[in-house]
Amino acid sequence: MSTGSLLAADLVVAVLAAAGWLGAGAASAARRRPVALGLAAFALLATVARAITITALARAGWWFAAEKVLVAAPLSLAALVVSGAGLLRARRDLRSVAVPLLFAGYAESAALLVTVLHGYPASAGVGLLAVSGVVAATAVSWRLLGPRPSRAVSRAVVALAAVALVAGVGLAVAPAAAPAGQHTHEYRAAPTVGEPTRRFTLTAGTATVGVSGREVAAWAFNGQVPGPELTAAVGDVIEVTLRNRDIGRGVTLHWHGYDVPNDQDGVPGVTQPAVLPGQEFVYRFRADQAGTYWYHTHAVSDVGVRMGLYGVLVVRPAPATGVDVTVPVHTLAGVPLPVPRVEPVPPGVPVRLRLVNTDSTTHRYALAGTPFRVAAIDGSDLRGPTPLVETAVLIPAGGRYDLVFEAPAGPVGLFVDGRVVYSTGPVAAATGGWPVLDPLSYGAGAPVPWSRFDRRFTLVLDRGLDLHGLLPRYAHTVNGAADPDIPPQVVRLGDTVRFTIVNRSLVVHPWHLHGHHVLVLSRNGRPASGSPLWLDSFDVRPGDVWEVAFSADNPGVWANHCHNLPHADAGMMLHLTYSSI
Ligand code: C2O
Ligand code: CU
Repeated sequence: MSTGSLLAADLVVAVLAAAGWLGAGAASAARRRPVALGLAAFALLATVARAITITALARAGWWFAAEKVLVAAPLSLAALVVSGAGLLRARRDLRSVAVPLLFAGYAESAALLVTVLHGYPASAGVGLLAVSGVVAATAVSWRLLGPRPSRAVSRAVVALAAVALVAGVGLAVAPAAAPAGQHTHEYRAAPTVGEPTRRFTLTAGTATVGVSGREVAAWAFNGQVPGPELTAAVGDVIEVTLRNRDIGRGVTLHWHGYDVPNDQDGVPGVTQPAVLPGQEFVYRFRADQAGTYWYHTHAVSDVGVRMGLYGVLVVRPAPATGVDVTVPVHTLAGVPLPVPRVEPVPPGVPVRLRLVNTDSTTHRYALAGTPFRVAAIDGSDLRGPTPLVETAVLIPAGGRYDLVFEAPAGPVGLFVDGRVVYSTGPVAAATGGWPVLDPLSYGAGAPVPWSRFDRRFTLVLDRGLDLHGLLPRYAHTVNGAADPDIPPQVVRLGDTVRFTIVNRSLVVHPWHLHGHHVLVLSRNGRPASGSPLWLDSFDVRPGDVWEVAFSADNPGVWANHCHNLPHADAGMMLHLTYSSI
């Protein structure tokens, strides 16, 4: 079983165990002997099953099991001892075991809440809060159902609950590591005048655009979705004047995957203020990376990008030969936008399809009717890509794949999530069963360019209750905290930095670091064996553990976040910052 499925299975058995014990307690209080016995047996089984899932998760990695081993396992054990002893002692009248059975239910529920609301890392404060909750709920049940406890016993119970509660609250709300402190800005000199400059103007504004015969409200650059395609040749200077006509919440331009100097990165509140209606901002950077990229607003980006404030950026090493087209895939108002038409070309002409996923979730692409190679991922050329046939590729949110082939004599078709988005004639439509390319073992391997790492960071992705804002929210968290309370990762210029990214949640997180490309070292313990993969967007699936590394060679303060943009908005965003010493 994959770690992702184990995480889901563990949650299910935890719910069953809690429900089983609570139900057994309620049934015995109501003197429903057979029901109580049946539910108690069921709960017992679920609790044993949970021991198995917790053990398996601990073997997959401590991140997946920490709070389960430290909180759920002791509470489950206590539940088994107390309720088991009660059941063994009880003869005919099960009412006397109602309280022990309910205790077991409270213990399992509290442990479940710790996993669902708090997660990783486990903390003593949260453990004590769980214990105080269990003790308090049991004490109330005891008063209502049980024999009258002696004064000493009730005092002891109240004292225990109070101590656990006070200590738990104290530890849980104690300030963690200092949140993102001073932003240190160090700017690279802007390119000088006199170099060939490609100038563009992008005006952001509300617009109405037609999608499949329907008029929908959008936010657009120059009135179109996607915005104009920006192209340049390697060595050009790109200069883009951004104007905001009427987007009240402000706009910026972020060059997704383009490792620009920090002050050109377009992150409001970090590298520049958002550009408000009537204002403008000029971006300027040298096009020194060839490849397929895209740009999008980074102001309220979960809304702005979805509404249409994005476009493609392509930098070519030399004038394109053959057919070279970009295929940005985007869903606007719930409808997939049509992709640009490509006229059929004579057989033998080289074709390059630059696939861009501008949505917040993964898309599955399948090219039918021709063998092809994946020439580049996230703008970087792959080493020794081999021809593929009847193979699908999964592109993470924000990711790009360049597919190349020679135009065949017969028709070709491109499918996205099983739907044909483009074809030059009838093609076999059954792409759903095709195997999916694993880029970690595609192409020719090369040694990792570093032998040591100056810094290591671990990011554990999860969900949890965030009580730090004005209103409590169920956030997407990194190491148990949500933006803006996630401590920044501090590196020094010249460091080689290694990241471990662990997903212990039940959803995919497409990870995206600004300003740097990371080299994939391994996934789930298996080293990457194919072409070196320099990525800026990669899907960390439930249960995945990715090891990636990069050179700290671009000083500044850089966003490091999940590119499922609603997740980033719900807390899954931190910063990488360079210290000046
Ligand atoms: Cu494509 Cu921080 O974003
Ligand atoms: Cu996410």
